[in-house]
Amino acid sequence: MAHSMGFVTFLSLLSFAPLCFSGNTFGGGHLYPQFYDHSCPKAQEIVEHFVAEAVAEDPRMAASLLRLHFHDCFVKGCDASVLLDSSETVRSEKGSNSNRNSARGFEVIDGIKAAIEKECPHTVSCADILALAARDSIVLTGGPYWDVPLGRRDSKGASLRGSNNNIPGPNSKFQTILTKFKLQGLNIVDLVTLSGSHTIGNAQCTNFRQRLHNQSGNGKPDYTLDQSYAAQLRARCPTSGGDQNLFFLDFVSPVKFDNNYFKNLLGHKGLLNSDQVLFTKNDVSRELVKKYAYSQELFFEQYTKSIIKMGNISPLTGYKARIHNTLLPNQRFSSSIQSSSNVNLTSTRYYTTPSQESSKKDPSESVSKIVDELCGLSLLEVMDLTEVLRQKWDVKEMPIMAMMMPGMGFGGAMKGAGKGGAAGPGKGEEKKEEKMVFDVKLEGFDAAAKIKVIKEVRGFTDLGLKEAKDLVEKAPTLLKKGVTKEEAEKIIQKMKEVGAKVSME
Ligand SMILES: *[C@@H]1O[C@H](CO)[C@@H](O)[C@H](O)[C@H]1NC(C)=O
Ligand SMILES: *[C@@H]1O[C@H](CO)[C@@H](O)[C@H](O)[C@H]1NC(C)=O
Repeated sequence: MAHSMGFVTFLSLLSFAPLCFSGNTFGGGHLYPQFYDHSCPKAQEIVEHFVAEAVAEDPRMAASLLRLHFHDCFVKGCDASVLLDSSETVRSEKGSNSNRNSARGFEVIDGIKAAIEKECPHTVSCADILALAARDSIVLTGGPYWDVPLGRRDSKGASLRGSNNNIPGPNSKFQTILTKFKLQGLNIVDLVTLSGSHTIGNAQCTNFRQRLHNQSGNGKPDYTLDQSYAAQLRARCPTSGGDQNLFFLDFVSPVKFDNNYFKNLLGHKGLLNSDQVLFTKNDVSRELVKKYAYSQELFFEQYTKSIIKMGNISPLTGYKARIHNTLLPNQRFSSSIQSSSNVNLTSTRYYTTPSQESSKKDPSESVSKIVDELCGLSLLEVMDLTEVLRQKWDVKEMPIMAMMMPGMGFGGAMKGAGKGGAAGPGKGEEKKEEKMVFDVKLEGFDAAAKIKVIKEVRGFTDLGLKEAKDLVEKAPTLLKKGVTKEEAEKIIQKMKEVGAKVSME
């Protein structure tokens, strides 16, 4: 048994452990903007195209798409659960208090999904499409741009209860809203900043009627609302009737993503209770509202940070989640897909359940647990574990691993692991012959260029953001092992351009 190929393969596979999809372990850090660069390079372009078309046709759609991303992320993480229709196993979130008669834009997402499936089948998750569509909606309406971290997996299940309970309501009190944000790992800064999303979009009369007529059950309006503004609103939002009448959330510039939302709050003209309380109920929050009202730049800067953070909310941890949460387009495309005009659905084959989905057996509880734990190991721990197992199982050579490792950019970590199990072909022997392969070493870099350096390193390794960052911070360190002279020189040149000093040996 000791030398069986199975163990060798297992040990080899171990080296991939730090690359596992594992939401919580990496705090969402496994998501990165280049995720589809090779597997579906046109994905972002397709999303942008469809969103631009939809927003041109209906400016309100920008806010609707942004809201879908938000309502997705707050329920079981950003896993596209919001898109699922009811079935035997799913109680759709579309029926929740937060979504019923108000969530919209599903047909836009369906159209994007169909076009992307045609371009690269079974590659791009709906959760990522939602995140990209939200970004594009903001950019199209004049807001900030950011690179959207990608690589989310879609959920097979939905949570109607989560949708009812986790998403703050328009009449929620400040503390309730903050608590709901905190439950998602978001803080008060994220709360105020992301509320700025209400710089675009509409709300129905039913969402703020209470403020106009009977805020605390004593027949009096909410006096934190500017009373002349309230009078205007009452005209189309009387005590009864007109429930569905629409009102701009930011009446000053309703379809432009800017900081007028915060200026409105300063003037007590926030439409929803949940908007105005940001200014009236908490000191920290009030100061932030003021800051953003004075500086749109500051608002935009923090907005990109907060929305990336929100986009990283993810429950899909480890192996089990990944297996179960392959795309299930057949569920996605139940009804609304029919209305998607320019895609010939009968000719696309993606709308049936992938056959392996139903036949794939769940791994046992203990196997899943081990896999999840492996996924949580750092590179160095993986090297240690490999060595311990190698000795325990008496595996002397690990040919597969030796072959695999050099190209993987794990050189630095292997060196750090000392006598690490996977020492490739003896380095000493090789040196005597004409040198064919080289190791690239990061000597140092300008502190200011660190982000660029990390980005560059990720360009020629398979490292995740966190691993690349850790590696770069260890400089001087081995960057890449066993590359040709040509390749090494290319790396050196590129790294030089971004402000890093790199050598080869
Ligand atoms: C205001 O709300 C309270 C409690 O919900 C209710 O009892 C009362 O009748 C309402 N007053 C008016 C004028 O609608
Ligand atoms: C859609 O594609 C199918 C299969 O390729 C074809 O038979 C059908 O005529 C097409 N329909 C339209 C409306 O183009």
